[in-house]
Amino acid sequence: MISQRLRKARETEEAFETRISMEQRPMFHLTPRTGWMNDPNGFTLYQGKYHLFYQYYPYNSSWGLMHWGHAVSEDLLHWEYAPAALAPDENYDLDGVFSGSAAELPDGRMLIAYTGVLEEIDEDGLKIYRQTQCLAEGDGYNFKKYKGNPVISSDMIPEGGSIQDFRDPKIWKREDGTWRMLVANRSSDDSGQILLYRSTDAFHWEFHKIFARNRNRFGKMWECPDFFELDGKGVLLVSPQDMLPSGFEYHNGNGTVCLIGSYDPVTETFTEETDQAVDYGIDFYAMQTILSPDGRRIMLGWMQNWDTIGIHDARDPWFGQMSLPRELRIQDGRLLQKPVRELENFRKNKVEYHHVRVTGDGITTSAYSEPGDVTRGLQLPGVSGRYLDLEVEIEKADGEELFNKFTISLAANENYHTDIGIRPKESIVKIDRKFSGSRRAVIHQRRAQVPMQEGRIKLRIILDRYSMEVFINDGTMVMTATLRTTLSADGIYFACDKDALLSVTKYDLELKS
Ligand code: FRU
Repeated sequence: MISQRLRKARETEEAFETRISMEQRPMFHLTPRTGWMNDPNGFTLYQGKYHLFYQYYPYNSSWGLMHWGHAVSEDLLHWEYAPAALAPDENYDLDGVFSGSAAELPDGRMLIAYTGVLEEIDEDGLKIYRQTQCLAEGDGYNFKKYKGNPVISSDMIPEGGSIQDFRDPKIWKREDGTWRMLVANRSSDDSGQILLYRSTDAFHWEFHKIFARNRNRFGKMWECPDFFELDGKGVLLVSPQDMLPSGFEYHNGNGTVCLIGSYDPVTETFTEETDQAVDYGIDFYAMQTILSPDGRRIMLGWMQNWDTIGIHDARDPWFGQMSLPRELRIQDGRLLQKPVRELENFRKNKVEYHHVRVTGDGITTSAYSEPGDVTRGLQLPGVSGRYLDLEVEIEKADGEELFNKFTISLAANENYHTDIGIRPKESIVKIDRKFSGSRRAVIHQRRAQVPMQEGRIKLRIILDRYSMEVFINDGTMVMTATLRTTLSADGIYFACDKDALLSVTKYDLELKS
């Protein structure tokens, strides 16, 4: 027996999805079956398949009463929708089933840990939203909420912690068979802390320790924690709210932080050493990771940001995408990201250019040129399209002065262009999507600090109709942005104010026939 709320969500998504054509969606980035999507949830490998759930409101493309949507994949790129997995249908989660994670129980069932949200009136008559941690068990597709929910209630939060900001459980089984859960919480200093709970059977939990504290350094409340060991380091990923900018590292608003440090598995102590943004672009938040069967740590995030959701139109049939899954490594204290190697299986129509001279004879991109008279720069035959894997290498031409600015314009025609600007003298890479179909005054550009010698830089750019992910210098930095550009704008142009050498390898990505 499924609840009325879940049945209604399932009926709605089945009825509405037929109204969305394939062309209205990206080719291999997951979008909601219908309506609204935010965070990835319960990203897990279960019985040989990748399961990805997501924060979901199927009834329209705005955030609403949260459900869990569901999709399944064998290669992390072709996703098949499954029926909505969870609805807010119990007296402890009636106001939303918020983000969480999944794992496999010893008996082979899937276990979901999520945050139940319940509106209450406090003793002063004020509305509060109580958040507690809850479980659901099932066969990977249909779930039964645990009768002992909530398993972690407000009275298990340490002194001073908020009962309203207490969410996004990350659950895992340790090698010794015991269980751990990290939960994000707002502490008495008004900023985030990550709490660690433990259990011997995954159902009965106790508070173990405060695993990490923000101490008002990176934003305020931290959301969506994930923790893993990689390349001899402990890695804590969090998504902070209310960040202040810090140089080029962090920007205002909702951000992403990767804390890299040492981890002692005996005392379960994480000691931070370095911090960095996870993505330096516009649209990335709330990331989760999994371990693939061949031992790769793979991450994906919500390819959107709360500060820019205003870009969408309430009449859109869907809103929200997941990023490309990315393989992670730690090298020299930094996080490296690469598109999952599975993507390379779908590369077609290779086109290659080596050391093409882009001349600085006045051909520069002008954002203000009149439609029709624009020369955005050099076009290379065979290098265009909106679902591409594009490798670009740039350096200054021998014996020439170093250029000030090299611009790559993508998704371009006479009206539209999305630019990647490279300024070696300032060590800046800038993405700019002002001319990418947005009709809203939200953030459209971001800069990252990238040291370059002689203007040398290597980019791998993945385009999938409505997004661009730019992997800089073998993934030492990534800049991600969604686009709304009409699909007929598929030109790619290269321009420079001095002479530069350009090498390009382009592949079309063809995932669905
Ligand atoms: C992060 C977040 C989570 C919460 C969910 C609600 O984007 O705010 O903290 O669980 O979204 O949809």
